[in-house]
Amino acid sequence: SEQPTALIMIFGATGDLANRKLFPSLYQLFIKGKLSKHFAVVGIARRSLSTEQFQANVKESITTFLGKREDIDEFISHFYYQSHDIADPSSYAELKKLAHELDQQYSLEGNRIFYLAMAPEFFGTIAEHLKSDGLTEVTGFKRLVIEKPFGHNVESAKTLNNQIRTAFSEDEIYRIDHYLGKAMVQNIEAIRFANAIFEPLWNNRYISNIQISSSETLGVEERGRYYEKSGALRDMVQNHMLQMVALLAMEPPIRLTTDEIRSEKVKALRAMRPLEGDEVKQNFVRGQYGQGIINNDPVPGYREEQMVEPNSNTETFVSGKLLIDNFRWAGVPFYIRTGKRMTTKSTKIVVQFKDIPMNLYYKTDQTLNPNLLVIHIQPEEGITLYLNAKKAGSKMDATPIKLNFANVGVDAMNTPEAYEKLLYDCMRGDATNFTHWDEVALSWSFVDKISQVWENEKEESFPNYESGSTGPKASDELLEKDGFFWWPIS
Ligand code: BG6
Repeated sequence: SEQPTALIMIFGATGDLANRKLFPSLYQLFIKGKLSKHFAVVGIARRSLSTEQFQANVKESITTFLGKREDIDEFISHFYYQSHDIADPSSYAELKKLAHELDQQYSLEGNRIFYLAMAPEFFGTIAEHLKSDGLTEVTGFKRLVIEKPFGHNVESAKTLNNQIRTAFSEDEIYRIDHYLGKAMVQNIEAIRFANAIFEPLWNNRYISNIQISSSETLGVEERGRYYEKSGALRDMVQNHMLQMVALLAMEPPIRLTTDEIRSEKVKALRAMRPLEGDEVKQNFVRGQYGQGIINNDPVPGYREEQMVEPNSNTETFVSGKLLIDNFRWAGVPFYIRTGKRMTTKSTKIVVQFKDIPMNLYYKTDQTLNPNLLVIHIQPEEGITLYLNAKKAGSKMDATPIKLNFANVGVDAMNTPEAYEKLLYDCMRGDATNFTHWDEVALSWSFVDKISQVWENEKEESFPNYESGSTGPKASDELLEKDGFFWWPIS
């Protein structure tokens, strides 16, 4: 396979993301032969560490998260460390010198990836210094990788974007949405566009509704400080959930290239009907978890978590009904639902087809199940198609049957992690599974209208769902109003 060459500079190299995801992912790429000998990593953070200490940390993170050691010493020999003050030009001067040396030593062809694995309030300062202090003057490519949150609303996202755009052009910016690295999210396009049997039915004539559920059993853990200001709407809906909506709703691109796919996704997002004032209440439900039982253990309510206000108005659950106003989707609700501290950890998409015009198999006590296409994103990966068929021996009975496909990875032991794929894509210059600025801006505009309503009005019923449940009652009522119900998530 292709072996890209680059110097990877990780800002925030002592942090959680670097340790949990980036080092293990780079290691996986390394042992799979997807990195050539021509790569080097500079870890950058405030703390003062020697390169040896840093290499020991990297080794530790890999053994903790992967438990492997094969060729590990050779791998970590590519890692360097630089203690850094993000506001100090002399820090960047040293970094530039080190980058230049490593470029020579490893024959990196002047290629540089700047990975900002840290809080976004620093992105602007770093981007500006990278440019003014000469780190972006490269002979190869330069790419910026950033993590969410991309701002807090459309205005702050614009400010942030303008700051990074001073040093990088749009096609050099790789905005991570790790859901786009998940194998079955990537499979949505293949299911739709590589089969003759789905695309003709993929519209308002044959689909009655689409349900996207992403539930977690974890609570807010140690992230109270961040989450209080974010809530489930900004944390999950603005990015992951709307990205899945866009992939399900978009028109077939004329080619499977980054630009063509992005422009179709953008069009789908533009067709999303904006919600105003009271429409927010009619179409969106917010929830906050109270105490309850998860895996047989009692767990505290959100308001009792660390760094959370005792009367917090932050939502840990969102469900909503989206309408896409175009020829294909007019009248078909897309229901989305996501929450913490629910019954199971699971992400699934259910495409519910319309009922057949007349049921010949109807007996007084029995109605036919609609056909469903279920895309299992996680923890299982695969597709299930629910059909009706006749039971052996019986006369007029139609019963539901399942056609199942399980997506088993090449080596089932190590289902490639989303980050591993995305890092590799970035090194190869494939931005398809990253979010374009237009997508970010459109998602914020949609979500901002909802948060404005929610922030101006305290939800008196909080906490309104028990930990370990499927969310607040109002979420079920949202579908019942339309004559539907949530298909079970587990
Ligand atoms: C992150 C959110 O983007 O996605 C977290 O910040 C959430 O709050 C996580 O837990 C869920 O990701 P996954 O891959 O576990 O479904």
